[in-house]
Amino acid sequence: MNKITIVGCGRVGESTAQILAKEELCREILLLDIHAGVPEGVALDIQESASLLRFDTRVTGATDPAAMAGSDLVIVTAGFPRKPGMSRSDVLDSNLAIIDDVIDNTLRYAPHAMLMIVTNPVDVLTWHAWKKTGWPRQRIFGQSGALDTARMTSFIAMQTGYSVKDISALVLGGHGDAMVPLARFTNIAGIPIQHFLTDDEIADIAERTRQGGGEILALKKHSSAYDSPAAAIAIMVDAISHNRRRILPCVSILDGEYGQHDIAMGIPAVLDENGLVKIIELKLDQTEQADFQRSADKVRTDIERLT
Ligand code: 2OP
Repeated sequence: MNKITIVGCGRVGESTAQILAKEELCREILLLDIHAGVPEGVALDIQESASLLRFDTRVTGATDPAAMAGSDLVIVTAGFPRKPGMSRSDVLDSNLAIIDDVIDNTLRYAPHAMLMIVTNPVDVLTWHAWKKTGWPRQRIFGQSGALDTARMTSFIAMQTGYSVKDISALVLGGHGDAMVPLARFTNIAGIPIQHFLTDDEIADIAERTRQGGGEILALKKHSSAYDSPAAAIAIMVDAISHNRRRILPCVSILDGEYGQHDIAMGIPAVLDENGLVKIIELKLDQTEQADFQRSADKVRTDIERLT
């Protein structure tokens, strides 16, 4: 990829820019923010680490959205973070206006880009961006499952003592307390997770995964997670940038898959240089499908607030 714009210079935006720059996932990164001086300062700080970390990526900052021109990918991290005790849905109204502005600017200055939504509530805002742009779902998707799955993987590694490198987990559904960690699709070195952990231990890990963002927010109090969200974004960018055809959990518009229409939710999808090119539809059992439906109902409640 040649150029990536990251909208929002909060901790997630900044941490994402650092990883993308260091991993040389594109030639140029633009940080865009409404607070004059902030994107320029953040960009300069990252740029000055280039000779130390040995990367050639060019990092700039701007407040003028016209600077987005020529972007291949726009990553939206701008928005109000939730405070301890708030759900992700509680920031919907405040973040909707921000997203609307970003979409208008993207349509105007980067009409051929792909759009990756990270701002919460990510499922609803991805759906909203899809409706508003009229773009095919291939070019418009969100990040949440890569993060939720990474959390589940970490908790399994902590519990079993085995390497995260051998653990493969899967979390689907909306990015909220009703997300759906799938033990049946989780293994260590290909061996089903049930071989290593009891049902109670697996249930505890699933619950900790559902509350993963809230756990960090409750500990830090003044900030949500940002290093792991940024790493999750970077994994998706890497798949696109290197045309890897990786199967990653992504927020996607569903058009009949998993029994859902006109909604955006986390499902496994193939990411390559053309974006989200294929949805992998798993055969869920009755309990998993009921959990997925419960998660969909929550996302739909927020969507209905917008319509
Ligand atoms: C998280 O789960 C902020 O939604 C983000 O940490």
